[in-house]
Amino acid sequence: MIQARPFLKWAGGKRQLLNELESNFPSYIKEKKEIDVYIEPFIGGGALFFYLQSEYTIKKSIINDINSDLMLTYKVIKFFPKELIKKLEKINKEYEKLNEEKRKEYYYKKLREPYNKIKVDINKLERDSWIKKASLLIALNKTCFNGLFRQNSKGEFNVPIGRYKNPKILDKENIRNVSEILQDTEILCGNYNDINIDNKSKAFIYFDPPYRPLSETSSFTKYSKGDFNDENQKELANYFKKLANKKHFLILSNSNPKNTNPKDNFFHELYKGFKIKEVSAKRYINSKSTGRGKITELLIKNY
Ligand SMILES: C[S@@+](CC[C@H](N)C(=O)[O-])C[C@H]1O[C@@H](n2cnc3c(N)ncnc32)[C@H](O)[C@@H]1O
Repeated sequence: MIQARPFLKWAGGKRQLLNELESNFPSYIKEKKEIDVYIEPFIGGGALFFYLQSEYTIKKSIINDINSDLMLTYKVIKFFPKELIKKLEKINKEYEKLNEEKRKEYYYKKLREPYNKIKVDINKLERDSWIKKASLLIALNKTCFNGLFRQNSKGEFNVPIGRYKNPKILDKENIRNVSEILQDTEILCGNYNDINIDNKSKAFIYFDPPYRPLSETSSFTKYSKGDFNDENQKELANYFKKLANKKHFLILSNSNPKNTNPKDNFFHELYKGFKIKEVSAKRYINSKSTGRGKITELLIKNY
């Protein structure tokens, strides 16, 4: 089996939740360490996907996200790993030898500006611009503030430079391994409910949507296509219910509103009838009602 890790830092990455997720897998999967069809409609950085690919035998996977630059990068790694590595090698060499001031200039002029200028269409292969865009996205992700992905209303990436002494712009071995893994993976870009799920076979599906913000004041991660508001959470719950009637095994993670408001039953009402587990998230929050404390997240399953 090939060992690979997420090639990007991604807001809401699930590395911290892997153990909890795994202990909540359906028993037929835990026992055989085998999955016929794995689907992840909100893939982001793919923490669980890469973990599974390294530990389980998966016959077929489908990954999807609404962020088209992200999914384009998955495609470039799948089809053009060598060319991508070459581009990243060049960026890495140029960046490495600069002092702090020059790196700043490089970040804005040689990475961020060209990244925003290159227009690509994920549905229309243009090899060179795809590879260029993907290499710039990876380089920006490794050098920008907190590895954030944020765009302004014009769709321009607007995250400032971060503070890293030795950012790892290029991880050759990981890119090669990710590429290997992606050979059996269908890469889609769109809304989670556009995925064509074959209801004749049994799939294991992990939903990791943007979390519902814990309180009015807590900072909320914005993704490329606007917010995921309560209306979107309700639509997703309806979609979950529809799929739950088929043969599939579904698991979904989200924030637990009870961390800040014990009376908030938002998800318990939306997912009535399903198993809802509170699991410990290795994160802390400052909130009036609980003081500084560990918080929990929700895992919702149909099995
Ligand atoms: C919490 S993150 C997923 C993180 C991922 N599990 C990881 O380990 O990195 C949520 C993802 O959902 C994507 N997203 C937001 N709205 C979406 C939609 N309507 N359909 C599909 N993906 C969406 C965002 O672009 C983001 O990458």
